[in-house]
Amino acid sequence: MPKVVVVYLSTSGNTKAMADAIVEGAKSRNIDAEAFNFHEAKIDDIKSADAIAIGSSTFHYKMLPPMEKFIDSLAKANVSGKPGAAFGSYGWSGEAPGMVAEKMRAIGIKVIDPVLRVQYKPEEKDLEESKRLGKDLAEKVKKSIKK
Ligand SMILES: Cc1cc2nc3c(=O)[nH]c(=O)nc-3n(C[C@H](O)[C@H](O)[C@H](O)COP(=O)(O)O)c2cc1C
Repeated sequence: MPKVVVVYLSTSGNTKAMADAIVEGAKSRNIDAEAFNFHEAKIDDIKSADAIAIGSSTFHYKMLPPMEKFIDSLAKANVSGKPGAAFGSYGWSGEAPGMVAEKMRAIGIKVIDPVLRVQYKPEEKDLEESKRLGKDLAEKVKKSIKK
């Protein structure tokens, strides 16, 4: 079954809640989906993905350096041309999701525009939007496989 892999960095669970909702949305469109903390994500998980969503909260006006390294390392995973999405929770400035999208595009991932950002803890409407993003990604996977 085609698969969406969601990788996140989340210090207090806010971006993780978005990641879990993206998984739920993709699954509701009959696409396999799984969320990984970026510490646990393996390059083989990424290689086997038909679409990739990456989430990061914002710290000191950017994403944390280990997440930058992780995204750069995906260049080895043959991700070019796959559909993707960037997302994340933030407090006041929220730069990380845009930076994540930029890095993903630099290695050839086709990132859905606009990125999804939620201020602090996602509310019900934010989780619905996250599910919607998962559904959109699932539809893109179906289209990319048909080609
Ligand atoms: C030390 C620290 C620095 C932060 N810096 C920023 C920042 O520069 N811009 C911003 O929008 N939010 C900033 N935040 C807020 C977090 O992005 C916000 O709390 C977010 O909801 C955390 O999500 P997470 O639980 O997924 O990590 C900062 C939080 C902490 C604790």
